[in-house]
Amino acid sequence: VRGPLPGWGSRRVVEPGGPFLYDGPVPGDKSISHRAALLSLLAPGTSHILHYAPGEDASTTLEAVQALGGRVSRESDGSVRVEGTGGRVREPEDVVDARNSGTLARLLLGILGGSATYAVVTGDASLRQRPMRRVLEPLGQLGGRFAGRLGGDRLPVVVLPNPVRAGEVRLAVASAQVKTAVLLWGLFASGETAVVEPALSRDHTERMLAAAGVRVEQRSLGVGHRVAVWGPALPQPRTWRVPGDPSSAAFVFGLAVVTGGKATVRHMGVNPLRSAYLDVLQEMGAHVEVEEPQVWDGEPVAHVTVSAPQPLRAVRVAGARIPSLIDELPLLAALAAVAHGRTEIRDAQELRVKETDRIAAMVEGLSRMGVVCGPYEDGLWVQGPARLRPAQVEAHGDHRVAMALAVLAQRSPGPVEILGAQAADVSFPGFWQLLPAPTR
Ligand code: S3P
Repeated sequence: VRGPLPGWGSRRVVEPGGPFLYDGPVPGDKSISHRAALLSLLAPGTSHILHYAPGEDASTTLEAVQALGGRVSRESDGSVRVEGTGGRVREPEDVVDARNSGTLARLLLGILGGSATYAVVTGDASLRQRPMRRVLEPLGQLGGRFAGRLGGDRLPVVVLPNPVRAGEVRLAVASAQVKTAVLLWGLFASGETAVVEPALSRDHTERMLAAAGVRVEQRSLGVGHRVAVWGPALPQPRTWRVPGDPSSAAFVFGLAVVTGGKATVRHMGVNPLRSAYLDVLQEMGAHVEVEEPQVWDGEPVAHVTVSAPQPLRAVRVAGARIPSLIDELPLLAALAAVAHGRTEIRDAQELRVKETDRIAAMVEGLSRMGVVCGPYEDGLWVQGPARLRPAQVEAHGDHRVAMALAVLAQRSPGPVEILGAQAADVSFPGFWQLLPAPTR
């Protein structure tokens, strides 16, 4: 487990509260907000993004959009207007800092490389440890020229202007960030640019490009999935309605499940490549109800209610569904601690290269809280139900680790001190205020 990061020093003491009852929205989807801002940067005209994600990652993206020549104004209702460049990205005057956001860094590399814009991209101490070869290699196959630390695998990365080519690339890992970087690159190249990924990752970019008038085609192969765009193309300016973030909603549902409460999240994104954790919650014995389905800019949205009237059961989570719930695995590992039986999470080695090594961080945090659990190279196991104890745990600069441990702390017999709790602001400002009042 990597050490605590500078600037992440805050701590929260979480005391167990009563049943958690909730009916309302959650912050706008972070993945969709990044994409809406970056497509608006490229669009010829002004776009309006409603319910833009309020966390630090999405704010960082707006700063990057400005550095690349977009004009950004934030409205008092939480929406954002972006006046785009019509594909004429400006050379940034200074290093572009993606801070904690892997999605921003990788998507930017696609846009900067594709538009042959000289730039240097960096990030915070966590992001500077995350792999970048996975994106620079496929872009390099299409004519991109980059230099970076550790032989081109770590930020800071320099983007050197070079003629761009269309073409087909194959990814070694299913990654929506890398897929999106290639598709954004393809908007600048002449002809068909295609990405083949070994398993289907979240498809927001495909849906959003199509909604913005770009030709996108997808087909599933015997093994894997192929997506293509045709360039040169500009996404058209439009009004984007950002659904509630299913990954933030997961923590709200987690609070309901561990406290014997009930939560309804309104207008939540229910894209099947994001909401597979709802199936797992059901397998664990929770009740899940999905009502009033709608479609916003190609994205399915609904009101979702979760409760767990009886004790949870252990589950096995592995295989092709892993990319569709990768960000919820820290939470599912925490919920497994109150479920009966041995939960196994496998095929999830990607957890090792997220904001922190989430396998090591969750095994450490759960163990300190008294949970019997252990790591695999590609996942973890948890034996439940645990006899929890008061503890001091560490978020390791990772928003989802902080929130997952806080959810489980609701079942602790005493206070759980979470070091680096401020990390939650990366995706879910207001999370700590949502916790039920302590019952003691
Ligand atoms: C994201 C894709 C996923 C996910 C991340 C956001 C995106 O990462 O874990 O939180 O917005 O495209 P990978 O693409 O690296 O799997």
